[in-house]
Amino acid sequence: MESRVKEFPFTQADFERVRSMIRHSAGIALAEGKQEMVYSRLARRLRATGVSSFSNYLDVLERDSNASEWQSFTNAMTTNLTAFYREPHHFPLLAEHARKHSQMTVWCAASSTGEEPYSIAMTLCDAYGTLEPPVRIIATDIDTDVLATAALGVYSAERVASLQSAQLKRFFLRGRGSQDGMVRVRPEVRRLIEFTQLNLLAPRWVLTSPFDVIFCRNVMIYFDKPTQRQILARFVPLMKPDALLFAGHSENFLYVSEALRLRGKTVYELAQAPAAK
Ligand SMILES: C[S@@+](CC[C@H](N)C(=O)[O-])C[C@H]1O[C@@H](n2cnc3c(N)ncnc32)[C@H](O)[C@@H]1O
Repeated sequence: MESRVKEFPFTQADFERVRSMIRHSAGIALAEGKQEMVYSRLARRLRATGVSSFSNYLDVLERDSNASEWQSFTNAMTTNLTAFYREPHHFPLLAEHARKHSQMTVWCAASSTGEEPYSIAMTLCDAYGTLEPPVRIIATDIDTDVLATAALGVYSAERVASLQSAQLKRFFLRGRGSQDGMVRVRPEVRRLIEFTQLNLLAPRWVLTSPFDVIFCRNVMIYFDKPTQRQILARFVPLMKPDALLFAGHSENFLYVSEALRLRGKTVYELAQAPAAK
């Protein structure tokens, strides 16, 4: 990699250190060839902290596993791509599941900037026909920046452009004045969701209740197979007997966990689950 033209020298050894650190702390397996991405994301952290080189920056992190910079490092390394009603075929299935249950507890395990848990909330409001459905949604992510954005529930009009106008009216407030061109999720809908930080790799999760539904979409792709296997094994006891587990479009859990079987396109249920009627 050309280091002469860069603001900060960035060697292959620096890249390998970053790779190993983020893999160890967050499970994220960065592919070879991601040097440019890592450089541009972390150069911002070097500027913000006033550290003059990558090796000094990484030394600071390695010296102190409790350093507050670890969170900023992690936030910089995550990829947060998401959208409202992403992989739309999942939502009718969620609504159908809700109609069979008088109340629902849902865990959205990599909720990014909130579009996914709000899509879940809106689907459940529609399914129960009220803005106060008997629903509890826990939305978690490792990245504290995206969680803050999610909790705010404010989006640009472009982010919601694909939603129908009836949905926009029902679930969002239009910004005025300085907020022109923005929308905000209605407080009733926001109140359905608890946003909290959770690292899927952490030895303990602050979750106890078994869930009717787990959304874990487009995050396992960043983990290697053994890590995926460990996480899925920890999902199983958190699933009610007829719970559904939603995965991302390129994630296949069938070969990773024998405890799961396919229920629909990238939707899983417990292999021991009562057969669907
Ligand atoms: C590509 S986004 C997917 C967002 C959403 N689930 C979707 O499908 O649209 C991946 C998210 O996983 C989060 N993530 C990465 N590693 C994680 C970990 N170890 N624990 C929890 N969340 C993690 C990232 O911060 C990011 O917000």
